[in-house]
Amino acid sequence: MKRVYNFNAGPAALPKQVLHRAQEELLDFQDTGMSVMELSHRSKEYEKVHQKAATLLQELLQIPNDYEILFMQGGASLQFSAIPLNFLPSDKTANYSLSGSWSEKALKEAQKIGSTHTSSTAKETGYSTIPSQLTLSTDAAYLHITSNNTIFGTQWWEFPSTPSYIPLIADMSSDILSRTINVEDFSLIYAGAQKNLGPSGVTVVIIKKELLEQCPSNIPTMLNYQTHAKNKSLYNTPPTFSIYMLSLVLDWVAEQGGIEAMERINKEKAELLYETIDQSEGFYIGHAEKDARSHMNVTFNLPSEELTSNFLIQAKEEGFVGLGGHRMVGGCRASIYNAVPLESCQALADFMKSFQAKNR
Ligand SMILES: Cc1ncc(COP(=O)(O)O)c(C=O)c1O
Repeated sequence: MKRVYNFNAGPAALPKQVLHRAQEELLDFQDTGMSVMELSHRSKEYEKVHQKAATLLQELLQIPNDYEILFMQGGASLQFSAIPLNFLPSDKTANYSLSGSWSEKALKEAQKIGSTHTSSTAKETGYSTIPSQLTLSTDAAYLHITSNNTIFGTQWWEFPSTPSYIPLIADMSSDILSRTINVEDFSLIYAGAQKNLGPSGVTVVIIKKELLEQCPSNIPTMLNYQTHAKNKSLYNTPPTFSIYMLSLVLDWVAEQGGIEAMERINKEKAELLYETIDQSEGFYIGHAEKDARSHMNVTFNLPSEELTSNFLIQAKEEGFVGLGGHRMVGGCRASIYNAVPLESCQALADFMKSFQAKNR
């Protein structure tokens, strides 16, 4: 069986052990005589899966009891609308820190719903840095950040702090579970699953119970966080297979040693690639400034479009998949989420060195 070096940005690599386990359990899930996809979402067998995913997430991220863990649908993109619908009243202003295209998209959705303020932006550096010099409007409803910028390859290493009455909200779609965070620093964290958590289809939301009290009753039921909190994310049919896969991925993370282990390995993987870039004497040009470099998405360019194109063609021939940069920015990007093994990064670093030697 052929398995490639998968550097896809999302959906992305899944741990091989998880895929094997899903395969083993596919036809007959825990003596039910059916697959987990065929179980009723109201059955006790499925309920256990659902509960296990929430419990494991709570343990791994050390989520305090005054937070709810929700499993929603619609991807991180639907959260861009749900957040202002729930937490932006007409007499307040939503604050956004812009660190890339995803935060711009989040802001755009909020602008359709109410008043907004750009607290800081790194647009002028081509999103090669993390924005600094934050200004909060006096009537701030919340501050929204994107913790890791999947497209540009930058990551917040020190989160902004807000006064306790201004909720800090973070889109952690592309770095959740990759490093230790203090959940209590945030009032709401959300992440589409398809990078570090599992397959696409489920969006994890971690929300402070206090914030739930603010959800207005006159918004669409499915976009109201209270609906999902009150019904343990079983108000309607949840994406049961995605949640099952999430539970297997969380099991795997725990077996690897939890988030601290993930963080250590991710650092090692990222350093391998950044060292290759830095030692290439300008052949590989990293997009992100050094102090903003992401440990999840390593973005770089080659000296010409022709070389970039040849690099991508040859990489593909050698079994490296997903190295093309996002269609908006071009160049190259290696997404090295939790499930990408160190060996894949070593193989890529070796390939980069040999390509450089042949093409300098
Ligand atoms: C940081 C970030 N936010 C949001 C999204 C959009 O996620 P979805 O496709 O789940 O809506 C992505 C997708 O890549 C992302 O990387």
